[in-house]
Amino acid sequence: MLDGCGRDITYARISVTDLCNLGCAYCKPRPVPKLKHEDILSVDEIIALANDLVGAGFTKIRLTGGEPLVRKGILPIARGVCEACTDVRMTTNGVLLARYADDLRAAGITRINVSLDTVDAEIYREVTGGGELKAVLEGIAAARKAGMSVKINAVLQRGVNDDPLPLTEYAASVGAELRMIEMMPFASTLGYVSEKALNAEEWARALGMLPVSSDGGHSDGKVKKFSYRGAEIGVIAAVSGNFCAACNRIRITSTGMLLPCLHGSKAYPVRDKIGSKEFAEYLRSLLALKPLSHGIREGNYQQIDMGSIGG
Ligand code: 5AD
Repeated sequence: MLDGCGRDITYARISVTDLCNLGCAYCKPRPVPKLKHEDILSVDEIIALANDLVGAGFTKIRLTGGEPLVRKGILPIARGVCEACTDVRMTTNGVLLARYADDLRAAGITRINVSLDTVDAEIYREVTGGGELKAVLEGIAAARKAGMSVKINAVLQRGVNDDPLPLTEYAASVGAELRMIEMMPFASTLGYVSEKALNAEEWARALGMLPVSSDGGHSDGKVKKFSYRGAEIGVIAAVSGNFCAACNRIRITSTGMLLPCLHGSKAYPVRDKIGSKEFAEYLRSLLALKPLSHGIREGNYQQIDMGSIGG
């Protein structure tokens, strides 16, 4: 479905819960008030939403959180959404993945992104506010064993993973694709960003990484592949790269608010349109409001926490 700027919007990221079992400084540093059960889209509503989106021409759905695996009913959600849409993926922190990998695979999830910034257990604990690295590594192993392809998302942070070698070696050893993501600023995380963020491409070149010519088939060109010590690292310049012209996505929060832009604080309710005849038309009216570009450079930061949007 075309937006107001002529971009074809085909990719929806649905947050199934705002809750998370970690507390990463760049994502959700503040305790947020707990939502009531009835405020959150039900399993059936999420599945109906996926069907509505596919009916409106969407071809790809990602399940996100918070942390999607803490959501009660995540398996029926995954099953139903996979029945609605042929390309369904999930982003998880991996803490509960060992428990869920086989069932997720059986539900139809074949591709999973795991957020993992470091393979140093002590640093992992600091960055995530108490997370156990071991659980995540077991989760990744279980996902690989279940036959899923795994991408590792690491948010590039000074003093955490600016030396990417341990992560690179680990990713290669488990057959996962490593992507280093430039840290995006949110209104609630500006302090951490100013302390820890690095320009991703400058960082890659300073380390002597060599660009690999193809972008690996990523149609939007967002992921730049570099070779580093014989391994490949994808680098996503999420802020400095300015990918807005090629943006093909929308976000829907766990309460059923649609965000046309990750960094635009405007959110529109879609819950009462789910499963109705007006859904597609209403969606079109919201896509018409999708801004041409985010306003990060002008200092217009997202007021909603990353953790509530789901990335
Ligand atoms: N900047 C960049 N990436 C982020 N993520 C979470 N917060 C940020 C941020 N501020 C990543 C997570 C996850 C994905 C959804 O986004 O690590 O992999």
